[in-house]
Amino acid sequence: MPPDEGRALYDAATGAAAGLGLPLLEIGSYCGRSTILLADAARRAGTVVVTVDHHRGSEEQQAGWEYHDPELADPEDPAGRLDTLPFFRGTLARAGLEDHVIAVVGRSPVAAAALGGGGGGRFGLVFIDGGHTDEHATGDYESWVPRLAEGGLLVIHDVFPDPAEGGQAPFRVWRRAVESGAFAPESECRSLRVLRRTGPGC
Ligand SMILES: C[S@@+](CC[C@H](N)C(=O)[O-])C[C@H]1O[C@@H](n2cnc3c(N)ncnc32)[C@H](O)[C@@H]1O
Repeated sequence: MPPDEGRALYDAATGAAAGLGLPLLEIGSYCGRSTILLADAARRAGTVVVTVDHHRGSEEQQAGWEYHDPELADPEDPAGRLDTLPFFRGTLARAGLEDHVIAVVGRSPVAAAALGGGGGGRFGLVFIDGGHTDEHATGDYESWVPRLAEGGLLVIHDVFPDPAEGGQAPFRVWRRAVESGAFAPESECRSLRVLRRTGPGC
């Protein structure tokens, strides 16, 4: 992207982020050059940019085509396909903008259907196995469980009723779900608990 286009993109992103305060969306992260422009605009407005890419390159970036860069080929890939994800991550890290970028690695229409409009943005299963502090486990619960569809499954890992067996944050989240009245027990296996959503709330 030439500098004047980059400036135009940055100006547009700055205006949009400041005006609405909503996350920005990019399709085509590649090695992160445009992403850092959007991310800096998002940072200034206290929001983030969500950027989608399968990181295997567009048609014109494949071997034998005009915009092919052999340095971007994945040395571990038997077919020598591109992998721009490490370069993308390096760009963000060097720019100090990692906290303002949510990278979605996948095909654009599939990501849109899962996360965005067109009936997307609802999940049939939410598996909570992230940070195990109260702050993170509760944050995961409150952030994602509202997106769990009725009839869907809430699965929580590392649920230990006995503190001698393990940390209590996942247990507290599981108990909160049970006590909410919005879930019914479905099954359990050691520390893995499965609940089914039977009504709204969490
Ligand atoms: C022209 S590059 C993006 C350049 C980037 N915006 C910049 O200015 O630095 C196009 C990117 O789109 C990605 N891409 C192409 N088709 C895609 C698809 N269907 N889903 C997700 N990513 C795709 C490719 O992997 C490639 O990284």
